[in-house]
Amino acid sequence: MTKPDSARQIQQAMRAAFPAAEARVARFYQMQEYHLGWRDVQLQPAAFDPGKLIRPQLVLLACQAAGGAPEQALPLAAGVQLLHDFTLIHDDIEDNSDTRRGRPTLWSLWGLAQGINAGDGMFVIAHLAIHRLADAGLPATRTLAVLRRFDELILQVCEGQYLDLSFEGDLGITPDDYLAMIGRKTAALVAGACELGAMAAGAAPDTVAALAAFGRSVGLAFQIEDDILGIWGAPEVTGKPRAADLYRRKVSLPVVHALATAAEREALARSYTQGDMDDAAVRSALAILDAAGSRAYCAAVAAEHHAAAFAALDQLGPGESPASAAARAQLRELATRLIGRQA
Ligand code: IPE
Ligand code: IPE
Ligand code: MG
Ligand code: MG
Repeated sequence: MTKPDSARQIQQAMRAAFPAAEARVARFYQMQEYHLGWRDVQLQPAAFDPGKLIRPQLVLLACQAAGGAPEQALPLAAGVQLLHDFTLIHDDIEDNSDTRRGRPTLWSLWGLAQGINAGDGMFVIAHLAIHRLADAGLPATRTLAVLRRFDELILQVCEGQYLDLSFEGDLGITPDDYLAMIGRKTAALVAGACELGAMAAGAAPDTVAALAAFGRSVGLAFQIEDDILGIWGAPEVTGKPRAADLYRRKVSLPVVHALATAAEREALARSYTQGDMDDAAVRSALAILDAAGSRAYCAAVAAEHHAAAFAALDQLGPGESPASAAARAQLRELATRLIGRQA
């Protein structure tokens, strides 16, 4: 599967998991399809940015790297992406975000209540997608094992979101607290994409573990880079407002670093705890972070996790078949492309 080909197949598998809707509930599904980029604000068919589709690509590559046929894992790839999209729908409510992938968020268009409910629907459809693994020929016991692990990982994502939200306004967060949070909210599902892909292939436990370790390190680096983008990313590339995490007072890694090391850390702490983060407060926070070298610090921490990801791939070895070796090389390329990403 080449990349554009896999993006098309992943979205086809996602569509296939949606039920045929009766007219009176059609809008319930159309709002979800709006979030996925398949409909415009008028809910007419469209093709907007569906996201980078990194997690489902990891599912397919991990499956192939572990000796499986990627086509068999398509329902799983679809389920993992739908679950990711469910987390984004709810995350945008939790973070009060009105822009996602360059467009108004679902809840900002149709309200909180419909936003929550549309997210719930997508959570269920993600599970329905994975049930289709059995239809694609996977043994029922393996499908069930994948579903159980999938649910364990989703619970970790919810734990991570709990920690993320509870950190807001807490200026005592340490790098360890931060890692415990992103390990759950982001790395759990990225690791899960690799782990579940390998499980779907019926891989041996050490292969599953090595791919999970690779995914976990990629996921940690990915979130740290998201934190860099959440402060310094270009809105036209990220599809999110400039310095959104500072306006929101997120205690992301650059802020954790500056609060611990910046010469003007008390000024930063004051603006994070008092009043509104208005444009002037954000400008001065940015100056403090820049002077403290917080961006370079985060890039260096992300680089350490990327290195750990490559080490996990090395541990996996070259691959028993040409297809598995090719997938391992593609996993390495994908991880390399993510280093210093702009969106
Ligand atoms: C955004 O994930 C949320 C995070 C965990 C950082 P992505 O950056 O993968 O979002 P899309 O799907 O490509 O939009
Ligand atoms: C996203 O976290 C993690 C999940 C959705 C589970 P963020 O809140 O940091 O991601 P963005 O910046 O909104 O994409
Ligand atoms: Mg968010
Ligand atoms: Mg969030």
